[in-house]
Amino acid sequence: MKNLKTKISTIEAQCLSELKKARSLESLESVRVSYLGRNGALTDLMSTLKTLSLDDKRTFGPALNQLKQRLTLAYESRKSELEKKSNTSDALFDVTAYKPHQMQGSLHLYTQIIEQLSSIFISMGYTIADGPEMETEYYNFTTLNIPEDHPARDSHDTFWLSQPDRLLRTHTSSVQAHGMEKTPPPLALFAPGRCYRNEATDATHDFMFTQGEGVFIDKNVSMAQLLATAQTFLQQFFGTEKLKIRVRPGYFPFVEPGVEIDGSCPFCDKGCSVCKYTTWIELLGAGLIHPNVLRVNGIDPDQYNGFAFGFGIERLAMIKYGITDIRLFHSANIPFLKQFA
Ligand code: DAH
Repeated sequence: MKNLKTKISTIEAQCLSELKKARSLESLESVRVSYLGRNGALTDLMSTLKTLSLDDKRTFGPALNQLKQRLTLAYESRKSELEKKSNTSDALFDVTAYKPHQMQGSLHLYTQIIEQLSSIFISMGYTIADGPEMETEYYNFTTLNIPEDHPARDSHDTFWLSQPDRLLRTHTSSVQAHGMEKTPPPLALFAPGRCYRNEATDATHDFMFTQGEGVFIDKNVSMAQLLATAQTFLQQFFGTEKLKIRVRPGYFPFVEPGVEIDGSCPFCDKGCSVCKYTTWIELLGAGLIHPNVLRVNGIDPDQYNGFAFGFGIERLAMIKYGITDIRLFHSANIPFLKQFA
């Protein structure tokens, strides 16, 4: 009977090791057949029971049944292991399968540029200001020293709305008065935002565009402060400390004196297509805030003065990134936008 005992433990050990070694459901099935199947080793052993004495039957009957249970359990658990694997790996992995292209979202170029500009002005102590895109004549013109019959109003190609006294702002200078109403001087504001002009579009003009407006008001503000601010901002935006500025007289009703500020070309020093072979690029309108503008906003021009500057945000971005058509900005053209993802 010792013989039978040894056989039981040998079969158990062998079967368990073969179950473990089985790497596929097919090989597992052949292990099952060779031990637990109708002609399997265990079934064989069970059939020898009938030749035993009653006593031995009592001992080995239950022993063989328990062995069968253990092996069946071991088989089931290995089977579910292999099934799980085949669902997750090789069986479903087709190296030739077509994977649909997934597009990744990113910030729009507008958002990126406005964030760059805002962080430059924030680093200089400015607060970011906002104003409505639908404006009144007062904020867009009157408060900026542009009275009703002033020819400067015509040059703005205004989109008038059907409601009386409502228009789409033609520039972000309209935020100046909103800022002065909210904050007593000293104040330093930077207002980026969308503007509208009823113009024919081409590669450098659009009916909808974005401007940045800066306003600084304090006591004894000088032109030197304006120029230093402009140069620092442009150097940071274009990422080069070599950038110089040059100033030409300019006329804007809300500043006196008014200037146009050019920057030296960030890409060359001898002339290139970006600077149209002049080495200079026109970048900002600016000046010292006209006393009338301060006065109409309740600021005493004998106590305070300030500077203001404005620029086209698309224009700066077009120069920085070599963009050749302003209309691409709001075109939702994916290949264009992807370049800035
Ligand atoms: N608002 C002007 C425009 O749209 C730009 C500008 C010029 C803003 C001179 C200013 C300034 O603050 O001082 O063309």
